[in-house]
Amino acid sequence: MGKFISEWKKSHGAGDLRSSHVGQQVVLMGWVDAVRPHGKAVFVDVRDRAGIAQVVFDEATSSSQAVEVAAALRQEYVVAVRGVVRPRAGKSNPNLLSGEVEVIVSEAELLNRSAPMPFAIADEVDASETTRLKYRFLDLRRPPLRKAMMMRARAAKIVRDHFDAEGFIEFETPILTKSTPEGARDYLVPSRVQQGSFYALPQSPQLFKQLLQVAGFERYYQICRCFRDEDLRADRQPEFTQIDVEMSFVEAEDVMEVCGRLVARLFMELRGVEVPAQIPCITYDEAMERYGVDNPDVRFGMELKDVTEWVVDSPFGAFQSAAKTGRVLGLKVDGGALMSRKELDELTEFVKNYGGKGVANLKRVAGEYSGGIAKFVDDGLRKALEEKLEMKDGDLALLVADPDKGVARTACGRLRGHLGHKLGLIRPNSFGYTWVTAFPMFERDAQSGRLVAMHHPFTSPRPEHLHLLESDPLAVRANAYDIVVNGQELGGGSIRIHSSEVQSKVFSALGIGEHEARIKFGFLLDALSFGAPPHGGLAFGFDRLVAVLAGTDSIRDVIAFPKTTRAACLMTDAPSAVDEAQLRELGIGLLGPRG
Ligand code: AMO
Repeated sequence: MGKFISEWKKSHGAGDLRSSHVGQQVVLMGWVDAVRPHGKAVFVDVRDRAGIAQVVFDEATSSSQAVEVAAALRQEYVVAVRGVVRPRAGKSNPNLLSGEVEVIVSEAELLNRSAPMPFAIADEVDASETTRLKYRFLDLRRPPLRKAMMMRARAAKIVRDHFDAEGFIEFETPILTKSTPEGARDYLVPSRVQQGSFYALPQSPQLFKQLLQVAGFERYYQICRCFRDEDLRADRQPEFTQIDVEMSFVEAEDVMEVCGRLVARLFMELRGVEVPAQIPCITYDEAMERYGVDNPDVRFGMELKDVTEWVVDSPFGAFQSAAKTGRVLGLKVDGGALMSRKELDELTEFVKNYGGKGVANLKRVAGEYSGGIAKFVDDGLRKALEEKLEMKDGDLALLVADPDKGVARTACGRLRGHLGHKLGLIRPNSFGYTWVTAFPMFERDAQSGRLVAMHHPFTSPRPEHLHLLESDPLAVRANAYDIVVNGQELGGGSIRIHSSEVQSKVFSALGIGEHEARIKFGFLLDALSFGAPPHGGLAFGFDRLVAVLAGTDSIRDVIAFPKTTRAACLMTDAPSAVDEAQLRELGIGLLGPRG
């Protein structure tokens, strides 16, 4: 064991063997997936990155050394075998791509042993995610993860081919840089040479890609790592990858077309799915109105219906008060009258996660309404149910009321998304694509009450709204667009401001004074004053894109070495304490306890 057989060369991937190889001598090298002794023979499944092949050790055909190797084999040992491919003689395994054939081993070598596995290398495992992340190098041996990683690599290749063919130039931009405001907290890196000064890791290459337009490159792209210190969820990692794109002399539609063609190519080449030549487009206002969220899942209907005006005088107090300042929104669940009390109670708990107070329900049976708020059904509500929600016998109405319009929308919109999954309204393996456009330029930060940029401060206001920047900033719409697939924001971008005056005005609307703007973004304002071309772009979340293509809910499944929701790497134990001496060199003292 241990000496690598130099005269042997791995000739085939185990999973690549087919009937066409019958009669050929092959050398396989891989891991022992399973060992099955059978009389005098030992059947071993050898696994490598191509898949699995069955190899057969037999005293009649294998060398004595090979027979010894076979006897020693255990799960995940590393083995090399040489032998001839033969048909499986009526015992083919339809679950394996190589299942028609097997290899009759003549010689074998044990290349390495393995400690007992913390979990099985199988499609499904019981092990906790903590264990799987600690032994990520083993988790990555599991077929679903291996396939996801391979799909990711193919996707990256398609991205490069696409942008290369469209005349884009690939760039690298700095990782040690200055803060770019994308709305999250920065990861900071202390400078040793200039103690007390810090680099920020890029939240995106936003400003650099704009500067490359000022530099005249016209079409830029990069597959780049971005870093954001924000609350993590299934679709967010502290470091993630973007496909970052920027173009000069273009309108929003040009950017959307180039990016739409990439999406079409990825879905066709990786999933065999045809994306509509024109991905449908809806405005932000329409998305909020119809779906309650700006990342709608358009794979199913069940749109939000606004019944506010019908319940202004409702005997139900919650509706009446919501109607005064907010909204009463309804969803109709076809055939939902069978939903149990417990299920309905769960929906109320669900909307509380989004600030909602509850969900009122009404069932229609034989033309009559029963359930939660049946005693409050007056003429107005009845009309709303019949005309707005188009209730039929057997249907269920779910109504969300809130004196805050935003809360009503978010709660009802999220409820819609939840029901889509829960009630199986989404066809398996289906995809729903939409562009969302005309986002508001600003929103009010709930905590500070200050205006913040909804996309980022370099986004261009719609030209016809420029005059509203000072008088009514919340009414200003931006030349920004998001691409949403299956209810996930896969990418976002905008046409940028290319005039230093407009940029200064936007900074000022955001409460960034001239002095602060100079300190933070002086280089950008300078660049804009040297003949900046009109430009715009977009960034896809590459991890999210691959997750959707791979059909998984969590981007952790498509990242080789992801972090936990506490931004930790359980395998390397990062982040971790550092030596006192290292800190001293950086001029840093810690306020709190270490580690
Ligand atoms: P934005 O901030 O919308 O835009 O980011 C672009 C896309 O990146 C993905 N994304 C993330 N993916 C995983 N983990 C995260 N923490 C995370 N944050 C964002 C999303 C998102 O749509 N500079 C602009 C782009 C531009 O204007 O061209 C930007 O970064 O899929």
